[in-house]
Amino acid sequence: MTNRKVLWKPFTANREFNADPKIFVKSDGMYYFTDKGEKVLDAVSGLWCCNLGNNHPKVVEAIKEQAGSMYYSTAFQIGNEPELELAKELVSITPDGLNHAFFTNSGSESAESALKLALAYHKAMGNGSKTMLLGREHAYHGVNFGGISVGGLVNNKRTYNNLLNVAHIPTIFDLKNNAFTKGMPENGADKADSLLDTINLYGAENIAALIMEPMAGSGGVHVPPKGYLEKIAKICKDNDILLIFDEVITGFGRLGSAFASTKFGITPDIMTTAKGLTNGAIPMGAIVASTKVYDAIINNSKTPIEFFHGYTYSGHPIACAAGVATIKAYKEEKSFEKVAEISPYWEEALHSLNGTKHIIDIRNIGLVGAIQLEVSKDGIGAYGDKVFQECYKKGLLVRATADTIALSPAYIVTKEEIQTIVSTLKEVIENLDS
Ligand SMILES: Cc1ncc(COP(=O)(O)O)c(C=O)c1O
Repeated sequence: MTNRKVLWKPFTANREFNADPKIFVKSDGMYYFTDKGEKVLDAVSGLWCCNLGNNHPKVVEAIKEQAGSMYYSTAFQIGNEPELELAKELVSITPDGLNHAFFTNSGSESAESALKLALAYHKAMGNGSKTMLLGREHAYHGVNFGGISVGGLVNNKRTYNNLLNVAHIPTIFDLKNNAFTKGMPENGADKADSLLDTINLYGAENIAALIMEPMAGSGGVHVPPKGYLEKIAKICKDNDILLIFDEVITGFGRLGSAFASTKFGITPDIMTTAKGLTNGAIPMGAIVASTKVYDAIINNSKTPIEFFHGYTYSGHPIACAAGVATIKAYKEEKSFEKVAEISPYWEEALHSLNGTKHIIDIRNIGLVGAIQLEVSKDGIGAYGDKVFQECYKKGLLVRATADTIALSPAYIVTKEEIQTIVSTLKEVIENLDS
């Protein structure tokens, strides 16, 4: 018997996992293969990251090639070619005005970096009192101290608390008015007004930035109501509060445009990314800053190193090579267009579950979906976990956060595979009590 206790798994019920571990040994496109020889259809792109499907041959090739020529060079004071190439590729698809890429190694690090950049910006502009950071309820910005502080999920805070000077605006989640909405809800733009209340409470002169996911992902897939983001952007601009869009999930085509910012037509001051940047092949993240932010810090700096921040693996050559191959593949395969093309089919398929026992809401946008289950008599998360376990037994990988089943298949998903996802979920959910 293997001693599994040598391994401590993240965001996992370790005791339960060790009693019956689920192990993947191989992957190919939309599928994983387990150590028991089973085939599992991946309805979540790994963890919202393998957008092109797993083991994309061009990404694999790029990694091999870079590893053979130089797998590491120092991030500080020395450059490498793949990092510049990736910066160019990245800003070629970001919205106009977001032109300066800074590399990290994960979504969590991207969030930290963006928050620090916002503080550095206001210092550089001579507004040193602007130090407070705003987030939103239900938000997920990774697990580091900045991210959990501006984040809005209680389980991420319970043990660790808020260490930063933060405040939160309310969630956009509104089951009462918006249940079973297809795409963007009509109701709720007025929720943006609460940002004004927060500003009036703390003073614009004290607030540095608001970070938000344009579409909240890990907190339960909450699609912004029509007009909401426009209002938020205007209030931020009027009050000299930087707007940071966390596009770790929504970036790289998930909503059918290169970024959510592109889809919604709103350009933040700073954007954070990770996951789909390398198609999940190598851990990597990036923040992309506007020229306003970049110039303020670079031009006004009184110290030789303008932004005193960075990681050993910022701009890691292999990660960057994977990123370049990934973005080129997105372009060559017209991946973002494919998402836009298939999303009406996805929407109809998901909403065909409306009326199924235990389902109290279905949400979707682009190639993202969420099925909200009622809370079982066994407590919050019991149904969600059961759906995850039962789907897995039937060869389907979904993601359960509490009682929300989140879905985000790779962009290569076929209509037949969408039908398999939906019919498996229907069968499992209908039989939850049996
Ligand atoms: C919006 C958002 N930000 C940040 C993160 C954290 O990314 P990572 O797990 O790579 O640190 C995630 C992860 O799901 C995310 O969804």
